[in-house]
Amino acid sequence: MSQHKPKLVVFTGAGISAESGIRTFRDSDGLWEEYNIYEVATPEAWNKNRELVLEFYNKRRKQVLNAKPNAAHKALVDLEKKFDVWIITQNIDDLHERAGSKNVIHLHGEINKSRSTVDETLIYTIKGEELLSGEKCERGSQLRPHIVWFGEQVPMMDVAYEIASSADLFIVVGTSLVVYPAAGVIDYVPDNAPKYLIDPNEIKVNGITNLTIIKEKASVGVPSLVAELMKDRG
Ligand code: APR
Repeated sequence: MSQHKPKLVVFTGAGISAESGIRTFRDSDGLWEEYNIYEVATPEAWNKNRELVLEFYNKRRKQVLNAKPNAAHKALVDLEKKFDVWIITQNIDDLHERAGSKNVIHLHGEINKSRSTVDETLIYTIKGEELLSGEKCERGSQLRPHIVWFGEQVPMMDVAYEIASSADLFIVVGTSLVVYPAAGVIDYVPDNAPKYLIDPNEIKVNGITNLTIIKEKASVGVPSLVAELMKDRG
């Protein structure tokens, strides 16, 4: 008879992949310092300059394919021995999956997938590094990155709210918590659930109960928290 495993929900952002060599967005060398969001990550950008958008994601896909999961991604997998672990990530990389995490929800899409522009249920895996203009879905329309752009609906939000609302423990790693609706996930976590936030910088969080701040980078803070949590479970 398997022992009931407490539900542990982890909410991750670009910071957990920073030490794997994938740029964040709003740090000093972040992506939004170099690119204008409205030129590469909105439906208008896609309609205006499809090649630029495809090139932007091809570059980021190359970075992801050359990156490896780091100690933080791996420590989250260890938790699965004692907890029912659910990862809700804003990241479009697949480092959680490559580290071995089983339950991963991508709120903002996935860099290694494309989808039809006439039927959003038609989703494909991108083979190799590039998605090019002229590549079409089975119904003959241009494929687009399977990414949620600014101004688009976040289809997985209800699933994420549902998961967060039944968390026994909640860990936030590497997100500035400034992009909604994603950042609102934390408001659905029960007040009495212990919450941990791991980030090397000061993060503005107000009105969050039961919160422990761990001012560390992910590769240090996550493994040490995981060691603690695994110890308590006997
Ligand atoms: N370890 C942990 N956290 C780190 C590290 C590190 N080594 N390096 C940076 N960070 C933290 C930063 O302090 C910051 O709080 O990671 C966070 C990165 O914040 P953002 O760049 O804003 O990334 P994120 O919060 O994931 O952005 C949310 O915005 O642009 C959109 O869709 C995009 O999913 C993204 C969303």
